[in-house]
Amino acid sequence: MKKRVLLTGGAGYIGSHTAVELLDKGYNVIIYDNLSNSSKIAIERVEKITGKNIKFYKADILDTEFLKKVLIDEKIDVVIHFAALKAVGESVKNPLKYYHNNLTGTLSLLKAMEDVGCKNIIFSSSATVYGDPEVTPITEDVPKGFCTNPYGWSKSFMEQIMTDLHTANPDFKVVLLRYFNPIGAHKSGLIGEDPQGIPSNLLPYISQVAVGELEYVHIFGDDYKTHDGTGVRDYIHVVDLARGHVKAVENLEKLNGVEIINLATGKGYSVLDVIKSFEEVIGKKIPYKIEKRRAGDIDKSFADASKAKKVLGWQAQYDIKDMCEDAWRWQKMNPRGYEREEKI
Ligand code: NAD
Ligand code: UD1
Repeated sequence: MKKRVLLTGGAGYIGSHTAVELLDKGYNVIIYDNLSNSSKIAIERVEKITGKNIKFYKADILDTEFLKKVLIDEKIDVVIHFAALKAVGESVKNPLKYYHNNLTGTLSLLKAMEDVGCKNIIFSSSATVYGDPEVTPITEDVPKGFCTNPYGWSKSFMEQIMTDLHTANPDFKVVLLRYFNPIGAHKSGLIGEDPQGIPSNLLPYISQVAVGELEYVHIFGDDYKTHDGTGVRDYIHVVDLARGHVKAVENLEKLNGVEIINLATGKGYSVLDVIKSFEEVIGKKIPYKIEKRRAGDIDKSFADASKAKKVLGWQAQYDIKDMCEDAWRWQKMNPRGYEREEKI
């Protein structure tokens, strides 16, 4: 019997791509999302891509009692916990909202899981927990660092809460997946990243400049200690990332304790490298201006991704060109994302 997997936040960017990959492998997927940062259309598109039906609960992870009911009714074996608020700037302006949703929400989920005896959790963590690491490439042994914003701290604290839960209750299996910079979209162009308002992450911003919605890319600094002075990151195709989750589900039985795994390609690209790749894909220039550094940004962040290969048998397949091509297809096919007015 294939496992039954609950995706909290499964209507979102990474969750919807993970739903496709799990369904393709025959897993039963149940989505639990309050649609605070997503659209039901994403779930319909996942059904279209896979030809399979998804059980969807429009509900909040803060609702512990309802979570318990869903875990029991749906006989959930594993929870993949994507649900969180993730806008870094907003988290600085409204920390309590972020701590409440992300931390109280996670406590609520863990309490529900503990109460009903569902003890497998795979968690969406982030490279942000490393802070400004002294060494690159970053292995999982690099100690966690000082986060520059409440969003980052919420991820760091959630990791600690799950680690402590495992210490108290060793039956709990915890996989902390530390994502580097997810970009790109499904090859179909039907699902992708749908930021609300003006994007703050690089790739959605470049895409909107390319499609004519925004005038030029603001490059935040060209005086970093990198090969061309602009910030370097480890961009990973969202479909590769999604497949990393499938591998985590497949390998749960052989994982012990709290497993921390970087999901990344191991390669770093600068802002100018990414703009150049995007230009090659679309065959035209992307206008940009060099501006001052953005507060909280670091020179470079890229991973040693060998643990994922050793422990999960997973490795990223797609390169930066694939990522730009797929992001561009999604952007062209959905210039206004999932169409806000159709949101429920
Ligand atoms: P997303 O905003 O597209 O998806 C998150 C989903 O969670 C949304 O559908 C939202 O409606 C839902 N949600 C939020 N609060 C909820 C609540 N209280 N109850 C129920 N549903 C709720 O974000 P994403 O990019 O798909 O990110 C998924 C996870 O990965 C998040 O935890 C994020 O912090 C983490 N992450 C993302 C990135 C990235 O660059 N996208 C990088 C590292 C980690
Ligand atoms: C940011 C968040 C991080 C979060 C991640 C994914 C900060 C400080 N960090 O990471 O916590 O997990 O997004 O949501 O916000 N850049 C520009 N112009 C832009 C946008 C970005 O030059 O308009 C540069 C940045 O300076 C950086 C690179 O592009 O060097 C990537 O930026 P971004 O996509 O925002 O990701 P991170 O900063 O790595």
